[in-house]
Amino acid sequence: RPVDPFDLVIFGATGDLARRKILPALFKRFCAGQVPAEARIIGAARSDLSVQAFRDLLTASVTEYAPEHVREPGMLDRFLECLVYQKVDARSAEGWGELAALLVLDRVRAFYFSVGPSLFADLARRIREYGMVTDQTRIVVEKPFGQDLESAKALNATLASHFDESVIYRIDHYLGKETVQNLMVVRFGNMLFEPLWNSQYVDHIQITVAESVGVGGRAEYYDRAGAMRDMVQNHLMQLLCLIAMEPPAKYDPDAVRDEKLKVIRALDPVKPHHIVRGQYVADPERPELGLGYRDEVGNPRSRTESYIGLKAHISNWRWAGTPFYLRTGKRLVARSSVINVRFKDAPHSMFGAQPGQHSNVLSIRLQPNEGITLQVTIKEPGPGGIQLTDVPLDMTFAKALGPDGRDPADAYERLIVDVIRGNQTLFMRGDEVEAAWAWTDPVIAGWQSCGDVPKPYVIGSTGPADADLLMKRDERRWRGINP
Ligand code: BG6
Repeated sequence: RPVDPFDLVIFGATGDLARRKILPALFKRFCAGQVPAEARIIGAARSDLSVQAFRDLLTASVTEYAPEHVREPGMLDRFLECLVYQKVDARSAEGWGELAALLVLDRVRAFYFSVGPSLFADLARRIREYGMVTDQTRIVVEKPFGQDLESAKALNATLASHFDESVIYRIDHYLGKETVQNLMVVRFGNMLFEPLWNSQYVDHIQITVAESVGVGGRAEYYDRAGAMRDMVQNHLMQLLCLIAMEPPAKYDPDAVRDEKLKVIRALDPVKPHHIVRGQYVADPERPELGLGYRDEVGNPRSRTESYIGLKAHISNWRWAGTPFYLRTGKRLVARSSVINVRFKDAPHSMFGAQPGQHSNVLSIRLQPNEGITLQVTIKEPGPGGIQLTDVPLDMTFAKALGPDGRDPADAYERLIVDVIRGNQTLFMRGDEVEAAWAWTDPVIAGWQSCGDVPKPYVIGSTGPADADLLMKRDERRWRGINP
């Protein structure tokens, strides 16, 4: 279903995020017929670009990030017609009058802050000063949303002094992923799982977001942030919320966000010995795999972690006693995001002592190879008496759903359409972000006060050995990281 014509102003339109994600996402939705030809994408940045130069930038970006769509005859030319460019400077009055004059009345006008948070206050103030706020205005902000509770509060206060919370869209792109939304449907659309979804039946839950890439071109930002701020405070926290929350009464923004917030607020502080930080080092036997973290970021004494493994507890009726193990890291053996729900053993084995452990595990693969596997115990075939063995009941969405399941819309495509439609369900509310920082801050402060040094792990491995020990101490183990 196409959305109504809209104006989308992208501040920071010449930046990396716009080039890699926002512009290709808009183009793909255009090709899908969802963005109408009357929509306007207004690039706004400090560079003195002509409209043609902005169109060239878009052409280069979609040729790289959406090549199959570029091949659709005529599409690119038609989309280029939607593009406009206006030079503006957040720190001065330059260009703002012209930008305001460009906007069409009576249509959704979304302002996408694809810039560092240090510019949020200036942008917000000028949007209001130049009379650009109507009842169809939306403000889209990107992470990092602050670097701790204090800065996040300050950003929220700045935005709140100019706009109502109901028009602010804080992006966590994990919420836009098809399979992440599917978590809610798997849990609350089936009768099968929810009666077992509690500490009485679930032994523990593992959330793994493994990446094979390193810090790439973002060394400066990343070395200040580290995995805790870059991934755990937001993406892993959101996954944890969706897996652990109570069923919302309806699929509506505040009903869902209220339940997520309760999970974050019920998290116990993490004990220092329940967390492992790691930093990747080059493999001396396979130097071709790349540089170690410190060489990659050019900071030989960096103590920033590129890996986190931790054990969390949610102190509420449903989850008391069931640990949640979270891990994420860069330059690991494969790119793989999976949630494993490990159920408890059957209370009694009528088959006598059996070698190995047998248990049900529900694995939800978020990316790649999206799908669900349920590990069930069966009899090993053959005449040799009853021997138990575990087999997977496997469903890969692409196979089960055919062509529609193979090419789900990218997270940014879905989120941008939701902004235009005015649906905040998949965006973080200010209080959620603050609660997540309130949980993260003491952990980071603890490392800083004791000068903690991350444990090395070799590029292409599954992380530092201490992360395995974290599990071993609880007589558990991480499930493999499989692509
Ligand atoms: C970003 C982080 O938010 O998410 C990056 O800043 C990380 O460090 C990225 O690589 C991972 O996203 P995806 O969609 O590739 O899993």
